[in-house]
Amino acid sequence: MELAAAALAHACSSCTACELSGSRNRVVVSRGASTASLMLIGEAPGATEDQQGRPFVGRAGRLLDQLLIEAGLDPERDLYVCNALKCRPPGNRKPKRGELEACRPWLEQQITLVNPSVVCLLGATALAAVLDLRDPMSGLRGRWIERDGRRWMPLFHPSYLLRNPSRDPGGPFALTLSDLRQVRARLCQGDAASGAPLP
Ligand code: URA
Repeated sequence: MELAAAALAHACSSCTACELSGSRNRVVVSRGASTASLMLIGEAPGATEDQQGRPFVGRAGRLLDQLLIEAGLDPERDLYVCNALKCRPPGNRKPKRGELEACRPWLEQQITLVNPSVVCLLGATALAAVLDLRDPMSGLRGRWIERDGRRWMPLFHPSYLLRNPSRDPGGPFALTLSDLRQVRARLCQGDAASGAPLP
């Protein structure tokens, strides 16, 4: 499995399927465990990710890890993290539809490789790119969607939480923490049914 993940990362690192290959520093493929039952999909790498070649390692990523840990999940062992787009859009602009389409085969290979039972979609861009759902995040976050034999959970993007930092009950931070606890509970149920140790 790790070999297959490394082969995929190697192939992806020389991708020239869209114009972002001309401006990127690094292709940002994934971090975490390719054997995990949980996959997180974000939007696109930012400046720090583009420098380091790993997703969610900047401010938003640090907040994401903090939330995951608070929800009882180990970011390196319990999940696999990637983005809908593998290269940084210049100036962190929104990904273009054509870029997302060109990148889609990589994401599909990642989903096939990891074969997660649960997938969290971080923010509206990931939700639209992966499930073609365009409803407001406020209505969809925290709700399970069953599709293709997997359970999908839309979550607020950590960058949105950085812009709305209140930790008051009912605010986006508290809601996301409660959504992630729901995700962990779901994973624990699945593990208990399969006899595997709980995370
Ligand atoms: N935002 C994302 O969606 N992905 C990253 O890797 C970093 C920030």
